[in-house]
Amino acid sequence: MAIIRFILHDNSQHDIDSENGVSVMQLARQSNFPGILAECGGLCSCATCHVHIAPEWIERLPAMEDLERDTLEFAEHVDEYSRLSCQIQVTDVLDGLVVHVPESQY
Ligand code: FES
Repeated sequence: MAIIRFILHDNSQHDIDSENGVSVMQLARQSNFPGILAECGGLCSCATCHVHIAPEWIERLPAMEDLERDTLEFAEHVDEYSRLSCQIQVTDVLDGLVVHVPESQY
């Protein structure tokens, strides 16, 4: 169980309670947040679930797999805080995670 904070392009903040094992992408879709299209449904092949992780959290996430790194090349405005939200599974240790949805995806 964790609370994930989404910050949308208009700087609105939304704290969402999540069960463990749900991806951050699924959480965003269930919450109807704009900007997370997730066109491939979580198969790590579209990059439309791109998010920026708050700097204080980026090192605390599981390491990125090669497939995620390759797919991220399709996203816009990628930086060192970029991740694909479908590849981040919620666990207790992610309680308080802060995720920014890029303005370019609206
Ligand atoms: S939902 Fe397609 S890469 Fe994440």
